[in-house]
Amino acid sequence: TQAFQINNQGHLEIGGVDSLELAHQFGTPLVAYDVSAIRNQIRHFQSVFEQNHVDYAVSYASKAFASIAMFQLVNQEGGHIDVVSGGELYTAIKAGFPMDHVSFHGNNKSFAELTMAVEQQVGVIILDNFHEIELLQEVLQQQHQHINVMLRVTPGVSAHTHEYDQTGQVDSKFGFDIQSGQAFEALEKVLTIDSMNMLGIHAHIGSQIFEVNGFEMAANKLIDTLAEWNERIGYQAKVLNVGGGFGIRYTQEDDPIAPEEFVDAIVKTVKSETSEKGIATPAIWIEPGRSIVGPAGYNLYTVGSRKDVPGIRSYVTVDGGMGDNIRPALYQADYEAVLASNPTSPISETVRIAGKYCESGDILIKEQALPATKPGDVLAMLATGAYGYSMASNYNRNPRLAVVFCEDGEAKLVIRRETYDDLISHDLSIE
Ligand code: LLP
Repeated sequence: TQAFQINNQGHLEIGGVDSLELAHQFGTPLVAYDVSAIRNQIRHFQSVFEQNHVDYAVSYASKAFASIAMFQLVNQEGGHIDVVSGGELYTAIKAGFPMDHVSFHGNNKSFAELTMAVEQQVGVIILDNFHEIELLQEVLQQQHQHINVMLRVTPGVSAHTHEYDQTGQVDSKFGFDIQSGQAFEALEKVLTIDSMNMLGIHAHIGSQIFEVNGFEMAANKLIDTLAEWNERIGYQAKVLNVGGGFGIRYTQEDDPIAPEEFVDAIVKTVKSETSEKGIATPAIWIEPGRSIVGPAGYNLYTVGSRKDVPGIRSYVTVDGGMGDNIRPALYQADYEAVLASNPTSPISETVRIAGKYCESGDILIKEQALPATKPGDVLAMLATGAYGYSMASNYNRNPRLAVVFCEDGEAKLVIRRETYDDLISHDLSIE
């Protein structure tokens, strides 16, 4: 299983706080983050760059988990963020996040979203397609403004991961194609537009990737591209953004290297390849999401009903499910859970952990070895911090869960649980 902390009462501890107390105080289902695990991961990434003596930005991919508190935490650690919607940008504004540390992504940013980004003077807009270049040009004209831009390209590397999580292959909805010359055409276009300052190039090859190789291949491809741009028209990129996607451990079957080791390999590739090609080493930006918040998050649930299907299996049902973690249903993602009151107690059975949603596919864990459980016990699902809350829904009109930050033995509520009144707050009566 995952590494976790146990306090002197034998209970699972999160950020120095007893998980049973969290369940009692805030109710379940609940997401609890170990804040120092988040800080440490950001620091590990930063130290890779420091050790390799390159300019850098660690830009947290906020789609993994965006909230005011999370943005404030990233800022405390000197991190940047990337946002992919007006809503994420709005959250960052309300968090007081420095706008010059924001990258704005997306393959179909609207006029309104681009207007907001330009008004806020975000650090960089990552251009995805030709339509967007024109749209942004219009926005800049209207506002008499300038902005930094980068071009997102598809390096033609397909990472070995779930199909929905692949983004770098040629047949992708994201970015400019390199092979066919689209990316170069986009570069030439952007360079003619005075209101855009062309910072560099971006690629993201996918998510939950375990092989260093894919990242090295992508880095190579990007440097080839930069060398070509330099040779053809003397364009020199200031920034090389290699995206995120560093895989994490969800279960004992996963055996990834530490996320910062992927980054170390990328940085070393970029340094050696740029010097070989005779171009200056640009600043290297990364955009990790999952690896920053995933391992730091725990979903706490209370056990309720049980069904024993004779001769087949037993279902243990908890008070949450696909509304707070869609990943098992959507990607067949695997997780592990432990009994919060005694995470290392001897196993007595293997059960299926089901959610409360009215759907057969609402299974959180297909096979989980556990000690005997009874209604009222608290189960903790491990490594749920990425793409759990951020993909939560109100399916079956279940209120979305609460989120707490735990650090140094203190728990702070950072997103309150939705109420039934929140649920109907947008409903309009026809009578
Ligand atoms: N940068 C870009 C441009 C991205 O599209 C993404 C993720 C990231 C960075 C961060 O990737 P990470 O380090 O978190 O792997 N909902 C899916 C994951 C979708 C990822 C989309 N893009 C899941 O739950 O597995």
